[in-house]
Amino acid sequence: MRTEILSTGMYVPSRVVTNDDLAQMMETSDEWIVQRTGIHERRWVEVPGTGASELGVQAARAALERAEMKPEDLDAIIFATLSPDHFFPGSGVLVAAKLGLKETPALDVRNQCSGFLYSLQVADGWIRAGIYRRVMIIGAEVHSAGLDKTTRGRDVACIFGDGAAAVIVGPTEDDSRGIRSIKLGADGRHAGDLWIEGLGSAFPVIADEEQLKQLKQWPAMEGSKVFKFAIVRMPAITRAVLEAEGVKVEELKLLIPHQANQRISDAVQRSLGLRDDQVFNNIAKYGNTTAASIPLALHEALEQGRLARGDWLAFAAFGSGFTWGAALVRW
Ligand code: COA
Repeated sequence: MRTEILSTGMYVPSRVVTNDDLAQMMETSDEWIVQRTGIHERRWVEVPGTGASELGVQAARAALERAEMKPEDLDAIIFATLSPDHFFPGSGVLVAAKLGLKETPALDVRNQCSGFLYSLQVADGWIRAGIYRRVMIIGAEVHSAGLDKTTRGRDVACIFGDGAAAVIVGPTEDDSRGIRSIKLGADGRHAGDLWIEGLGSAFPVIADEEQLKQLKQWPAMEGSKVFKFAIVRMPAITRAVLEAEGVKVEELKLLIPHQANQRISDAVQRSLGLRDDQVFNNIAKYGNTTAASIPLALHEALEQGRLARGDWLAFAAFGSGFTWGAALVRW
């Protein structure tokens, strides 16, 4: 038995924030952002205080509708995010409650840009072990609530956007199809290269002006280090999942890389020797939506008819942790 992707759905807030809009808030320009990241615009929630679960539940409803399923048909929910609604509980239980579910298990995954692939491997394990038959994976982020929107935070603020996407996975008896290989990695020695240091148990609750001045409540990123590691790890682990199934790079119909930065996707494409038509990117419209980015791109690729039954599809991710991963799917 293997696991197949049965349905997808997405939701992005209607508020479009262009690079010119950002230039009103900080010293930056459309030219700088487009050249360094390929991003033209991103979405931010219309109403501050809208949590990731609110975006997630809209994507979940869209995926359920497309599958002609009811929330009660789900055996489990996995919610991947780095921007949960609250410190605890996780946002998965909030989505379950919003769907009207009172008993369905809900797991939160905190693996940032690799969160979708970590979730996919957990769901694949559950399904292949016969524990559950219908698992909803949701990736959702509200970055706009946690960005330093001043010149000080411009390196991070120009990259990240809000959005959500969901997939429903279930078993298939057709051994040639579905998820064929998933590989994951992590190197916590680089935790401090992309993180929010404050607001955790290892950092005192921000209680006074002095602590606020330390700025540890904002995301901090060693951008060039992230870049250098990403363009090595993503192609390497993509090759590993291809090799595990004896699939050649030329046979790949589509690679959906985590939408970190267009320059990272381009470097991964070059390193693997893929043609333009073999790689799907939508970062120009949404920025980096972290855990939502791969399922969001998958949803749009499907809408555009980029995949047909039997096609080889790969996902690759890299992000905070550092964590990374790749998956090979036969559609
Ligand atoms: N607008 C204008 N200038 C900016 C800016 C912005 N939005 N962000 C940073 N800068 C400035 C820096 O302050 C720096 O100025 P200085 O030379 O006066 O100090 C200058 O641009 C160059 O900064 P640097 O960090 O060396 O630029 P870069 O070419 O490495 O590009 C990133 C910065 C963040 C775009 C790039 O490192 C990157 O894309 N890294 C990967 C990040 C990523 O994908 N993260 C998500 C991973 S999941």
